[in-house]
Amino acid sequence: MQSYVIEGKNKIEGTIKASGSKNAALPIMGAAILNPEEVTFYNIPNIEDTKITLQILKILGCKETIDSDKICIASKNMTNKTIPKDLMHKLRSTVILAGAILGRFGEATFSYPGGCNIGKRPIDLHLKAFREMGVEIEEKEDYIHCKAPNGLIGKTIKLEFPSVGATENIILASVYCKGTTHIINAAKEPEIQDLARCLNKMGAKVYGAGTSKITICGVSKLHKAEYRIMSDRIETGTLLCAAAITGGEIRVENADAEDLLDVLYKLKDMGCKIWIDTQGITLKAPKQLKATSVETMPYPGFPTDMQPIIGAVMTKAKGISSIKENIFENRFKYTEDLVKMGADIEYNEKENIIKINGGKILEGKIVSSADLRGGAALVLAGLAANGTTRVENIEYILRGYEHLEEKLKKLGANIKVKKG
Ligand code: UD1
Repeated sequence: MQSYVIEGKNKIEGTIKASGSKNAALPIMGAAILNPEEVTFYNIPNIEDTKITLQILKILGCKETIDSDKICIASKNMTNKTIPKDLMHKLRSTVILAGAILGRFGEATFSYPGGCNIGKRPIDLHLKAFREMGVEIEEKEDYIHCKAPNGLIGKTIKLEFPSVGATENIILASVYCKGTTHIINAAKEPEIQDLARCLNKMGAKVYGAGTSKITICGVSKLHKAEYRIMSDRIETGTLLCAAAITGGEIRVENADAEDLLDVLYKLKDMGCKIWIDTQGITLKAPKQLKATSVETMPYPGFPTDMQPIIGAVMTKAKGISSIKENIFENRFKYTEDLVKMGADIEYNEKENIIKINGGKILEGKIVSSADLRGGAALVLAGLAANGTTRVENIEYILRGYEHLEEKLKKLGANIKVKKG
């Protein structure tokens, strides 16, 4: 186990560059499975999740060359169609690779990713869509075997909920489909738009990404391509919030404000001054943050991944703030540690709402990450707290933030990684 040890009360100030997007990198690396020609990706973040994905691609038979943030993947000689169970369990979103393997070979074996700390996260919508496309699915306790005896057939698929992963999986599975797939009530997240742009650069025909209707016309082959993935909007939001909670001023470069408008709007509502330009986003915190209310929604609504982060900022905002979590059923675990640090938070389990009576003094404590974004929220609280905060179990945080310690240090934080 590793921990962050943070001496609080230093303002987060300066300029920093956002890394490549974790959530865009995963499906885009899946696109490499679909394309037997070599693909080159830039800006893939060096985080645990991408390392695990690369490990899986290697086991599947892909050849990888890594040079800093440039990754070349050649899947020409790939023969293995099974995602190993242990790695699948390490990273839930590897289920997205199933759509890519199915799309390429008409067959894939993987295991059920199971629940996680923020909720049940089933994959019923993914499997239902595969079935509609002519895939026969054998579900056993240990694995799921998918086979499309007549290849994948383009269909009109209506999602009951705009699931990000299911939308990505259907897109990947449909690239070579016979005919045309329409996804109705598709997720509109920027990472889906990035996946579509990347696939289209390889010769796929994906239209309408970013809207609720996505159309994929099957093609017979893809070609060699290079693609630079988008920057991480959740990392950008986290860094902006680190400045907001510490009364600092930050400029995040390589960040696209378009992807983060709802978060920027809320930070403005809390009294932050925000400047947007083509190169990045600048935020100046007020002397005293004001309370606000947030309700998580699919894009373009307030992102659930930013919910714990803004929750931490709300502990320092005068007045009663509230958060209603609509996407995941168990995403308030981090608040127990915030309360331990002195925050005044009330949780209404029935409504999945928290109310934060903000503006209290936070005191450094030993706390523990239960999940990626909840862990990042505790880091932010530690930055604003009196004394020393030890955030344990930072393995969760390392899964999704590239060089967080170095970045925060560069911005003035006193933060160290300790073993144990
Ligand atoms: C992706 C993101 C994650 C983000 C989430 C919501 C990646 C790697 N992860 O996760 O960071 O928090 O979107 O923006 O991109 N659901 C079902 N059945 C399904 C699929 C989903 O009931 O088959 C439910 C989930 O339990 C959850 C909701 O739909 O309550 C949203 O899930 P989904 O949009 O699929 O999230 P992920 O793709 O897992």
